[in-house]
Amino acid sequence: MIVKKLVLRNFRNYDFVDVEFDPKLNIIIGDNAAGKTNIVEAIHFLSLARSFRTLESAELIKNRRQFATIEASVEQDTIKKDIVALMTSSSKKFTCNDKPVRKLSDLSKLINVLVFQPKDTLMFSDSPLVRRNFLDVNLSKKSPVYLENLMIFEKLLRERNAILKEDNIDQVQLNVVTEQLVEVEETICKYRQAYISEINQVLSKIITQLKGEMETAKLEYLPFIKLDDKFKVSCARAYERNKESDIKHKMTQIGIHREDMKMILNGKDISLQGSQGENRIAVIALKIAPYFLIEDKDEKPIIVLDDVMSELDTEHKERLITFVKGLGQVFITSTNTTVKNASIYEVKQHNITRRNAKW
Ligand SMILES: Nc1ncnc2c1ncn2[C@@H]1O[C@H](COP(=O)(O)OP(=O)(O)OP(=O)(O)O)[C@@H](O)[C@H]1O
Ligand SMILES: [Mg+2]
Repeated sequence: MIVKKLVLRNFRNYDFVDVEFDPKLNIIIGDNAAGKTNIVEAIHFLSLARSFRTLESAELIKNRRQFATIEASVEQDTIKKDIVALMTSSSKKFTCNDKPVRKLSDLSKLINVLVFQPKDTLMFSDSPLVRRNFLDVNLSKKSPVYLENLMIFEKLLRERNAILKEDNIDQVQLNVVTEQLVEVEETICKYRQAYISEINQVLSKIITQLKGEMETAKLEYLPFIKLDDKFKVSCARAYERNKESDIKHKMTQIGIHREDMKMILNGKDISLQGSQGENRIAVIALKIAPYFLIEDKDEKPIIVLDDVMSELDTEHKERLITFVKGLGQVFITSTNTTVKNASIYEVKQHNITRRNAKW
């Protein structure tokens, strides 16, 4: 799928923007704080109904204005969709071809965007939450069953934590909720494990292309309980063993909300031994990997690489550009990169304009 046209009103530092994009590689250049990330943030916002930079949608509205809108014309084969987001300080509404989008989880089917942002470089030394978030976002886009189970899990976890906070704990109620928790956790763990092994089928290939030498890369899933046919029994035992401690701390201390994964590059854990550049390339590869797991060419996601070039040497920059030229629609923001055979857009004075003629 591709974003053909983007129109912004009162979005971040822009009053009004109306721009047409290239179906392949778009390079957005401009000085620091010019508004490059704001453009790709707008595109990504339509896909997840949230920003990759802030949880407060009100921050997206230009100073003290009443509202902001993002409009994108998206093409998927012969299907055309006009997706609009309208934000006020207290609400956000989405429409597709003038019809309301009721389930926000449907948005990523209308416009699927994968994003790499500079802070992702340290994804593997960051908190496990960041890594679980990668799994949850990508798996939820891929499988409504996963999303449904995740939502049930979150509801049960809130219920269990509420019980643990009570002065007189109802043991029967605690056991019932724990049993239900174990049930959904098995499903979630299985999905996570299967997805990680799918990612592993493409990861080494991508990293090898980005690094220019044969690399083996592997994500290692660290389930909170060994995932075998005794999962439910082991899980129930683990909750029983932890019960006193959970009651003491007034919260559920084990579960899929505490799981993690690590990245092993050429046999070494990159969070412990990888250089900054290596981490960056490994995470770029990981962020792009879901692109290769979608078979239908027309459903291939749009790729956003925000400020991806900094910290990469010339050779790795060139490899990355060659690599992304083989993908579908890609947006790269940069303060200085010029690339042949790409559409260059310049962000300046609160506007974005195409710098080179169509090639
Ligand atoms: N709600 C808002 N209203 C007005 N201006 C805003 C708002 N939110 C952000 N900005 C402005 O947008 C600018 C930052 O834009 P952005 O992050 O897109 O810059 P950038 O070109 O990506 O810069 P860098 O190269 O440093 O990453 C800042 O000047 C900031 O003050
Ligand atoms: Mg930026």
